[in-house]
Amino acid sequence: MADASQIRSGEIIISLPEAYDAGVYFIGRIRTPFKTRDDCPKNSAQSDAVGQVELEPRYALALKDLEHYSHIHLLYWMHEARRDLVQQVPAHLGHPRGTFALRSPVRPNPIALATVELLKIDGATLVIRRIDCVDGTPLVDIKPYFASVDSFPHARRP
Ligand SMILES: C[S@@+](CC[C@H](N)C(=O)[O-])C[C@H]1O[C@@H](n2cnc3c(N)ncnc32)[C@H](O)[C@@H]1O
Repeated sequence: MADASQIRSGEIIISLPEAYDAGVYFIGRIRTPFKTRDDCPKNSAQSDAVGQVELEPRYALALKDLEHYSHIHLLYWMHEARRDLVQQVPAHLGHPRGTFALRSPVRPNPIALATVELLKIDGATLVIRRIDCVDGTPLVDIKPYFASVDSFPHARRP
């Protein structure tokens, strides 16, 4: 993934640590209509796509009571992303911005976040709407969305 020929002018690559600090269990896969990164919407807010979360059956009991929520957060692992850029030049910006000031999948830990609509739970399969990732993207976690905690309608952004 650390292919210097793929970077844009102004982007900055770093050396990553030699060892990982922790391990992660992928708890399932996200099924979407998008076969490649170029097929994907830019973000979940620009997506009306319906997909499925295929949870590993061993975690099915952890879904108890989730059906009461209309929206959930998905945390997923952008497995096709490089991890070594600290400044990136998004095509729509044309100038560098720090990785932690971007929603880019390219980051030291390529964890993405989407707040999706939960349409249905069928066993260990969740039907969701508003997803933006490549078909087969590994899932790291599911959390309920709380409007009272997670929503800041007047939050500042550039
Ligand atoms: C800008 S990111 C936003 C992800 C997430 N909604 C967030 O805000 O953290 C979405 C883009 O990541 C890319 N992408 C999707 N799935 C990916 C994957 N499995 N690995 C690497 N890149 C991916 C696609 O180009 C997609 O348009």
